Amino acid sequence: MRMYDIIKSKRDGHELTDKEVDFFVEGYTRGEIPDYQASALLMAIYFQKMGKEETSNLTMAMARSGDMLDLSLIKGTKVDKHSTGGVGDKTTLVVAPLVAAAGVPVAKMSGRGLGHTGGTIDKLEGIPGFDVSMNIEEFISNVNETGIAISAQTGNLAPADKKLYALRDVTATVDNMSLIASSVMSKKIASGADAIVLDVKTGSGAFMKDDESAFELAREMVDIGNGVGRRTVALVTDMSQPLGNAVGNVLEVIEAIETLRGEGPQDLREISLALGAQMLLFGGKAESVEEGRYILEELILSGKGLEKLKELVEAQGGDASCIDDTSKLKKASIQIDVMSEKEGYVASIQADEIGRAALVLGAGRETKESEIDLSVGVVVHKKIGDRIEKGESLATIHANDMQSAEEAKQIITAAYEISGGIVEKPQLIKGIVTREGTIMF
Ligand code: URA
Repeated sequence: MRMYDIIKSKRDGHELTDKEVDFFVEGYTRGEIPDYQASALLMAIYFQKMGKEETSNLTMAMARSGDMLDLSLIKGTKVDKHSTGGVGDKTTLVVAPLVAAAGVPVAKMSGRGLGHTGGTIDKLEGIPGFDVSMNIEEFISNVNETGIAISAQTGNLAPADKKLYALRDVTATVDNMSLIASSVMSKKIASGADAIVLDVKTGSGAFMKDDESAFELAREMVDIGNGVGRRTVALVTDMSQPLGNAVGNVLEVIEAIETLRGEGPQDLREISLALGAQMLLFGGKAESVEEGRYILEELILSGKGLEKLKELVEAQGGDASCIDDTSKLKKASIQIDVMSEKEGYVASIQADEIGRAALVLGAGRETKESEIDLSVGVVVHKKIGDRIEKGESLATIHANDMQSAEEAKQIITAAYEISGGIVEKPQLIKGIVTREGTIMF
């Protein structure tokens, strides 16, 4: 078998056999297939797409490319959560401690930023000392002791995805249904959780720009998960604008802490409660979504969710005093406001452009090797439907140099559309996809 023929076959629109998929995944993981051939295949998949069976084969080949974790040493039903990626999506930082505080063990492997979207691991590294790399023994023992661990996709977990994820990020091949489904599900399957709650984003800040493709992606992933015996459900949620207000690593950590204190933005709270309630259902701690939400709301009120975040930070070597005093977290040196040039109502926000502004400031990676600046980002003050006056601030830029701040300012100004008439706020949760079917809200 030759990689050249596999690329050519996909380029010409044929389905790859499971042997061809295995050849590619195994060869690329071992370093025998160079990045340029893998990039060519990714681009061919991007344009020609993959069928359901091909996607499922790719997922399993990627899951098998490294260790398949056995979490049976952790007591209870292990429930994982994964988002397909968005702008300002810091829900894991809110949901994971809350769900752990409710008694469901959270053994979570998270990713770094991809394209214009952020990643939980980069955000956690904004907390001084927080160690995202641990071996499996430490990971399991942390979950058993504190009920929660969040680790980077370390060691040998789905190494094929780790390499492909980084390659897709720099070859404009991220936003493809099969590549996203296989990337997400290979990690989830290899990381050993019993049940998986997916947050599939839709809108301008998501990889899936319209609801129809988001529901299709959700269905594909839910079927893959349930097909291999992992109970899987997906919520399809709005990403037509940044989630919450903060975009950028440390800024997002601060907003997550505020949300755990009961003071965060409403949309972030709502989505966190909805995802968390599904996790409690799977974990056997709630009988209904309503009960799940109630339990989580109580954990916010009592401060127990925030306490769990502190325990997580301490257990992973971080400075937990930053959670009580967020002024200790690294700040950018420059803050400038983006003023509205018009009055009216916010009609739309190109959320991916807000993500790109954060990238320009240094919050994300331009190449696989880029170092990121954890302190920079954007805080939006106006969301879709909000009234804005001329000269009022749309957003504040947090930067470490004036040149990138000016560039970000232009991007943000262009990302906002202001209209004269009243605009409705977008629906936050569009529907749920389960093994049994799809319910649109
Ligand atoms: N999240 C992932 O883990 N992989 C993708 O491809 C996109 C989002």
